Amino acid sequence: MALSASPEMPDRHPIDIAWSVVSLAETTSTNDVARALAAAGAPEGTAVIADRQTSGRGRLGRAWHSPPGSGLWCSVILRPRLPLSQLGPLALVVAIAVYRAGQRWQATGLGLKWPNDLVADGRKVAGILTEAVGGSDTLPPEYVVVGIGVNVRRPVDGFPSPLQQTAGALEDLLGINCPTVGEFGTVMLAELADVYRTFVDDGFAGLQAEWLRANITTGRQVDVGGTGGGWSGFAEAIDELGRLVVRRDEGDVVAVAAGDVTLRRPGN
Ligand code: BTN
Repeated sequence: MALSASPEMPDRHPIDIAWSVVSLAETTSTNDVARALAAAGAPEGTAVIADRQTSGRGRLGRAWHSPPGSGLWCSVILRPRLPLSQLGPLALVVAIAVYRAGQRWQATGLGLKWPNDLVADGRKVAGILTEAVGGSDTLPPEYVVVGIGVNVRRPVDGFPSPLQQTAGALEDLLGINCPTVGEFGTVMLAELADVYRTFVDDGFAGLQAEWLRANITTGRQVDVGGTGGGWSGFAEAIDELGRLVVRRDEGDVVAVAAGDVTLRRPGN
């Protein structure tokens, strides 16, 4: 499915992002900085990267552990000329860019967990936080800030206790072949420009097969949480809008647009 621009906007959006990177030693959250820059008129392609975040945040009000020297804490400003109703898959699209960057270093074992996580050996290695300002079902947002958090190296002091069983890093997979945060960020931004162009030109349909190949969610029994959640089923597919198609235990099939899923262990 090709995406159509809203009636108020020109038909095509010439995308060839040349990133302009703002590097910070420390900030509260790169999403906050990117939002302030976007509100002041910063163009699409502005990327804010911090070595440390003091109030890094994740989806669903969670905190994001962001110590110095270990991870890519990055937020990019996008100004897609597409209505909000077509931007649902954006986090999945960005996750593909992170996945592709991992493949440059042969990070086998890394997989995409719907909607926005990258996981290895059952541990979360990366997550994406999308924040759109303005817009409606028929109108594009004023801007979108996409926050990307990737645990590249293990934090020097290890992960704090609540994360010890659930968080992982690329270094766990790659050992001495693990890239530096800067190397990983450079490749990830190049891949992001590429997947974003595909998304704007062709919609999620242009990336659906790649997402499916890299994902670890479909073909599994899942518990669906979040608003409208609290039920279980079998994740069968992803559709062209990036929704997770789940056959509920009750037998009906539901396309889940947003929320959170927990993967059941085989046998559970
Ligand atoms: C999630 O998995 O819940 C999303 C995590 C997103 C973390 C990144 S780190 C860079 C950017 N700044 C933030 O405060 N959050 C995102």
